[in-house]
Amino acid sequence: MQRARRQNRTFSVSSLRRHYTNPFALYDALRAHDSIYFDASSRCWLVTGYHATTAILDDPRFTSRLDDSSAQSLVSKQMVFMDGEEHQRRQNALLRPLAQMSKRMPDAIRLFAQEGLETLRRTGEMDAVNDFAAHISLMSIAHVLGMPLDDHEQLLQLERWSDTFGDATSGYFHGDMQDVARLEDYFRQLIETKRRHPDSDADDLLSGFIAAKDVFPEDDDLISNCMMVFAAGRITTKKLLGNGIQILLEHWSEVQKLYQENPKAITKMLGEELLRMVTPTRCLIRQAVEDVDLSHLATGPHLVRRGERLLLFLEAANYDPASFSCPAQFDPQRRPNRQVAFGFGPHQCPGATLARLEIQIALEALLSIVDLKAHSDMQPVWNPNPNLGGYLSFYVVSQTVKRGSCP
Ligand code: HEM
Repeated sequence: MQRARRQNRTFSVSSLRRHYTNPFALYDALRAHDSIYFDASSRCWLVTGYHATTAILDDPRFTSRLDDSSAQSLVSKQMVFMDGEEHQRRQNALLRPLAQMSKRMPDAIRLFAQEGLETLRRTGEMDAVNDFAAHISLMSIAHVLGMPLDDHEQLLQLERWSDTFGDATSGYFHGDMQDVARLEDYFRQLIETKRRHPDSDADDLLSGFIAAKDVFPEDDDLISNCMMVFAAGRITTKKLLGNGIQILLEHWSEVQKLYQENPKAITKMLGEELLRMVTPTRCLIRQAVEDVDLSHLATGPHLVRRGERLLLFLEAANYDPASFSCPAQFDPQRRPNRQVAFGFGPHQCPGATLARLEIQIALEALLSIVDLKAHSDMQPVWNPNPNLGGYLSFYVVSQTVKRGSCP
């Protein structure tokens, strides 16, 4: 059997990376040409169709454990790069304490959202990415993990180190790699402290991980997964809110009207539509553990050879017109909305409940500011990480929210 190779058009990983600020025309062309396309230059399959993406993510013949990641490296010990039973045990160790913690989180997240609006209240303007989205995401995941929250400067430094870790994990080597070692040291010390002063009432995630000695017998394993949760729970939610605010502001009066009519239901639906449209983790990677014939998922012969890699563009899947009508249009009441921003299959995001809670509370806080607007003089700036990077900043203004002004 042969691969589908049509010579009239070539697509590549590098062209998709180059268009990181607006890859949509490329996704459309690629999907229409061949939704499971073999890029000969990178020897990678580029998957852009919704059904192909979900089928591959749910198929155990495609692994998350890439064969070039050294078993010793801290990166390879993250559950996201494991499969089978060793993966399931780690995910279970996360799910139980996370579910407990999430139930207790709403009040704390409401407080973080109000703190995030402080600059806007003081000055009438704020950077919605750094002042608001990053603050809620950082404080929420630090709280869930049981990291001390009193030293804000230290948390901001940990955030920078964790950005470097997130970049490196997503294959974008940028910044000072020593930051990863610094973050590792921080978690090593925090684990030591928690072991030295055990608190039988503690229900944070890190205490849960420490107690699960059979799941994390080695500290490297434990630390690696803490670093992963800290990055995975922060970078994604920050990007969702930071990029999502721009989408919301373009439709502000419509959204405000819907919010007045039914606040609870609309923030839920808005959250799902923003997850679909922003898709914070643009792309996932898998590797075939055996030859797999995918010809049934796309027209033409598609034989994936053992060892070959596939890039699954969740963002392209979320804009697949075969699964979402008028996908480029923001529809605050889209139904059904089976967006795949949290992935699919055994690795589907275990933090989805917490993320949805943060998004909903953040949206409630924003929607309470009736006259919120994008700052007319400032253009959003992109973080160049082609997979995880969202806006670095996005300024907004309000006349009424400023303390002391009349509504
Ligand atoms: C808008 C927010 C979020 C998005 C879009 C998102 C997206 C994703 C995606 C696509 C995956 C699948 C990775 C794969 O299949 O290779 C994933 C996995 C994961 N996410 Fe999230 N995530 C978000 C928030 C969170 C939060 C708040 C946490 C914190 C607990 C979290 C923790 C994790 C972990 C630990 C994994 C690995 C799961 C595994 O490999 O079994 N995520 N996330």
